[in-house]
Amino acid sequence: MTDLDTIVANAKAAFTQAAMPADLENAKALFLGKTGRITELMKGMGQLSVDEKKSRGAAINLSKQAIEAALNDRRLALADAELQMQLKAEALDVSLPGVPHAQGGLHPVSLTLERIEAIFGSMGFDVAQGPEIETDWFNFTALNTPEDHPARSMHDTFYVEGGTEAAPNLLRTHTSPMQIRHAVQHVKKHRALIDAGGTMPEIRVIAPGRTYRVDSDATHSPMFHQCEGLWIGENVSFKDLKFVFTDFCRAFFESDDLVLRFRPSFFPFTEPSAEIDIQFQTGPLAGKWLEVAGSGQVHPNVVRNMGLDPEKFIGFAFGMGPDRLTMLRYGVNDLRLFFDGDIRFLSQFQN
Ligand code: DAH
Repeated sequence: MTDLDTIVANAKAAFTQAAMPADLENAKALFLGKTGRITELMKGMGQLSVDEKKSRGAAINLSKQAIEAALNDRRLALADAELQMQLKAEALDVSLPGVPHAQGGLHPVSLTLERIEAIFGSMGFDVAQGPEIETDWFNFTALNTPEDHPARSMHDTFYVEGGTEAAPNLLRTHTSPMQIRHAVQHVKKHRALIDAGGTMPEIRVIAPGRTYRVDSDATHSPMFHQCEGLWIGENVSFKDLKFVFTDFCRAFFESDDLVLRFRPSFFPFTEPSAEIDIQFQTGPLAGKWLEVAGSGQVHPNVVRNMGLDPEKFIGFAFGMGPDRLTMLRYGVNDLRLFFDGDIRFLSQFQN
């Protein structure tokens, strides 16, 4: 073995021993670096004759190339080993079952509210929203229910801190205060027109939302939903209300032969007042009269509190219970199920 063969063999052995890229670079320096074995041999050629230089130089070059080739092989081998390790560490078993991501959905009552808004929206009704903490004025007084009026005791009211004796704060017991809030805004917007004797655009609005009463059993929850409706103009009649509400019920329940009944009732803010009952002609509830809303012609005192002349403006209001509509639509018999938050119940309503 020549000295060159020995050097090449040593270099290969050193490279094979190098376990990490950094070790390999150190080993490379021993042979190919500035003071490495090969470099030293090149430097030592100074004393040789021209012919000797030629043959010796060629031999050294061959050895150098052999060492570089071995270095390169080892580099590739180390890189490959590292890649294999990484692949192993990050191995993905595509045959494993996936991790399911729960898909959220709307609460059944929210689905009902969306449905109500869509149907009334298609009939030209706006949707208004208002505060759940109300004043006594909007919740009762402006709705023709002054203090000491017996109708106040029909609502078991939650009173909250922050009000004054003259204007106590309460959790609204119904969405009817939105009749006043919305109408006042509407009238304000069209005041100049009204004063000039022009024709005010009709008030046509629904106001869905949460309402509160001290009440809890299978058909009552201290928090529940209502949706108010109001339609005021110069020429609106009970006939219009019946037409619109019939259309709504038929669309909501997808039941074209459903019939309505207006049953005389009492509400302080309407005169005359009527309870609206519906009857399905087919299905599990067929033949039964089911109460779905209160309604009536808006009382002149309420029209006045809206800022309108009751001699000129007439209108109709209704208030319905989206919770009850949801129970009827899906055949649910306990209202509390809606608010217990049991996912096994709620997830049945995804659509
Ligand atoms: N606010 C009434 C209630 O909570 C429901 C109601 C009845 C609303 C008649 C109306 C109406 O707008 O005209 O019991």
